[in-house]
Amino acid sequence: MLYIGVDLGTSAVKLLLMEADGSIKNIVSKEYPLSFPNPGWSEQKPEDWWNAVVEGIKELTDGFDKDQVAGISFGGQMHGLVILDSDDNVIRPAILWNDGRTTKETNYLNDVIGKDKLSEYTANIAFAGFTAPKILWVKENEPENFAKIAKIMLPKDYIAYKMTGVHSCDYSDASGMLLMDVKNKCWSKEMMEICSVKEEQLPKLFESYEITGSMTEAAAAELGLTTNCKIAAGAGDNAAAAVGTGTVGDGGCNISLGTSGTIFISSKDFGVDKFNALHSFAHADGNFHLMGCMLSAASCNKWWMDEIIGTKDYPAEQVPITDDKLGENNVYYLPYLMGERSPHNNPDARALFIGMSMDTTRADMTQAVLEGVAFAIRDSFEVARDLGIKIDETKICGGGAKSPLWRKIIANVLNIKVNIIESEEGPGLGGAMLAAVACGEYASVEEAANKIVKVIDSVNPDPAIAAKYDAKYKKFKEIYPTVKPLYDTLKA
Ligand code: XUL
Repeated sequence: MLYIGVDLGTSAVKLLLMEADGSIKNIVSKEYPLSFPNPGWSEQKPEDWWNAVVEGIKELTDGFDKDQVAGISFGGQMHGLVILDSDDNVIRPAILWNDGRTTKETNYLNDVIGKDKLSEYTANIAFAGFTAPKILWVKENEPENFAKIAKIMLPKDYIAYKMTGVHSCDYSDASGMLLMDVKNKCWSKEMMEICSVKEEQLPKLFESYEITGSMTEAAAAELGLTTNCKIAAGAGDNAAAAVGTGTVGDGGCNISLGTSGTIFISSKDFGVDKFNALHSFAHADGNFHLMGCMLSAASCNKWWMDEIIGTKDYPAEQVPITDDKLGENNVYYLPYLMGERSPHNNPDARALFIGMSMDTTRADMTQAVLEGVAFAIRDSFEVARDLGIKIDETKICGGGAKSPLWRKIIANVLNIKVNIIESEEGPGLGGAMLAAVACGEYASVEEAANKIVKVIDSVNPDPAIAAKYDAKYKKFKEIYPTVKPLYDTLKA
C-alpha cells in the first residue's frame, strides 16, 4: 500500500509518497504566498494551502494506482490560528507561528495571569507565536470576527477537515496552542475561560498515529483518491520531523533547519523546566518532548541569498568558506529577522550584522549568517544542558541540512556529532510514517522509525575548530543583551 505525508510548511507544501516499507516513491512541492501586512505580522490564506494540496496530490499520485493510497497524514506548521464560521467559511487569513503582533496579549498572559499559573495549566508560558495570545488579539482587535468563530483549528487540521469533515487535532500540535494541559492531554478549562473559548469550538484530540476519519466523497473526487483512504491525525511539523528522523523514545535529539530552527529532545517522561525556557509538548510517538524554537533559521540564508545578494545558487556562495575559515570570522550576525522565540521571547528583536571592516568579504557575511543561526541554536542547546540533559549527538533535517558546510558549522558550534539520515524530508516522511502506523503497517511509531530511518553519514566536530567556536559563541552571547534596549527605540 501507499501512504502520503503532507508537510504543510510556511513557504510551500511538500508532499511525499511512501511505500509501506518506507521507500520514497515521489516528492512534490507547491509554493504559496506568505504575506507580512505589517512589520512583524505574518499571514497565509488557508484556501491557498488547500489549493496547493489538491494540485500537489494529483501530481504526486500521477502514474500510481490511486486505490493503493491507503492513508494520509501530516506534519504541519504549528501554532497558526485558523478560524471558521458556522458555515465553515474561513473568517480571516491565518495568523502564523512567526507573527509577532501579540506583545500586549503575551504580556497579559505572562504577567497578569502569571507564568506560574500558565505553566500549571498547560506546562508552558506564553510566546507571541502561540495560538492563545492570537485568540485574545482577535477578540480585542476584530470583535466582529471573534463573534463569528464556530471552529478554531491549526493549519494542518484545516487540510484534514477538508478531507474528512472531522474537526480534529493531535496532542503534539495542540500542545503549542497554550490551551492544552500537556501533562494530562486534555483541553485546559482554565485556559478556555481566560481566552473566552468554549470546548465545542476546539477540535477533538487524538494521538498522532490514530485515524480521525476517512476521505469524504467530495474530497476523494477533488483529490483523485478513494473514500477508502484513511486520514491519521498527524503532528506539528517538529514532532513529525522527529518521527521522520527516528528521534523517538527517550533522549533522542533532532535539529531542524527550516524556515524556523528547532532543537527537539524526545523523552518518555513528561517534564517542565523551572523557567519554562524550552517548550514542553507531547510527542507524536505517544510520549513527550522539550523544544527550543528560533523563528528564522534557513530563512535567514534564503533572505540573504535571494533578497540581498540576489542569487539562487546557494552552494556557490559557500565554496569560498573553506575549513581554515571556520572559527576565524570576525563578523557576527543576530538572526532575529522576525523577532525571536527561544530563548529571548522578544517579538521586537531584529537581525543585525556587526564586526565588518574594509577587508570583510561577501563570503564572510554569508558565513556569519550560517554561524549566527548555529549560535542561536546553541542558545537553546545550553538551556537543555543546564537542565542536566546530556546530548552527545543529533540528527538533522530541513532545507538547511542539505548544506554540508552548515552541518559542519552546527557540529562544531555545538561540539556534538551530527548524524545525517537517508532522507532529510523530516515532516513529510514522518507524516507518511504516521499514516502507515495508523493503518496497521507497524505496531508503533517507534517500530516504524527503527525499521525505516537509516543514518548514512556523520559529521564529527574537530576539537580545534570547536574550541575556536566556543570562544566566538561567548562573544556572540554578549551582543543581544547589549543591543536589547535599542529594539524598543527602533520598533517600527
Ligand atoms: C515551533 C514553531 C515552528 C513552526 C514552523 O514551535 O513555531 O517550528 O512549527 O513551521
